[in-house]
Amino acid sequence: MSKLLIANWKSNKTPQLATDWCNSFSAKIPEGTTVVVAPSFSLLSTVERSLPDSVLLGAQDVSQMPMGSYTGAINAQQLQAHDVSYVLVGHSERRKYFHETNQDVALKIQQLVTNNLIPVLCLDEEYIDSQADALESRDIPGLVVAYEPLAAIGSGNNAPVDEVTRVAEKIKQTFGDVPIIYGGSVDERSVREYLMVTDGVLVGGASLDAAQFAKVVEASV
Ligand code: PGA
Repeated sequence: MSKLLIANWKSNKTPQLATDWCNSFSAKIPEGTTVVVAPSFSLLSTVERSLPDSVLLGAQDVSQMPMGSYTGAINAQQLQAHDVSYVLVGHSERRKYFHETNQDVALKIQQLVTNNLIPVLCLDEEYIDSQADALESRDIPGLVVAYEPLAAIGSGNNAPVDEVTRVAEKIKQTFGDVPIIYGGSVDERSVREYLMVTDGVLVGGASLDAAQFAKVVEASV
């Protein structure tokens, strides 16, 4: 079964560091596995130029507004022009530090769908129902849901696999048979056990170093 591995660089790296990463990332990507790198907006051009062909470009967020007079916003059409494919929305860091609401996230998903981009909806368990209620429709083309328990993010305390299995089931009951990925302190030691019960992983800290992320990718089979 095909698996999705997304590197979320968060607010890290300069153009030079991003180029170095791309030039040194040389993982043997297992057959049927899709690898995506999601850099900051300001690094999209740099990464687009230097990323190996076998890796797709992603983004960490998108504006809920279309193109227009919205100072500081990066819209879905602009992401599409960079050949972005997968776009994270509703990450807990966006909800916590930038006060994003379920309603904002619903609008972002609409923008992505309109522009043929794939939404990766990040959710902790407590948001499953309220986020689903905020969406105009639960039937979202291409939707991927990332289960991201708050306590597991950046903490080294990755969630127990049986918890991931239980919540993935709940997500499927709410959103239908969508691909579900897990994020929260995934590394090369834990990746395989999560891939036994999910369709992929979202990797933060362990994706920042190209050699370490290559180990995560190669340990996924
Ligand atoms: P982490 O981040 O791997 O550093 O826990 C995951 C995420 O927040 O997407």
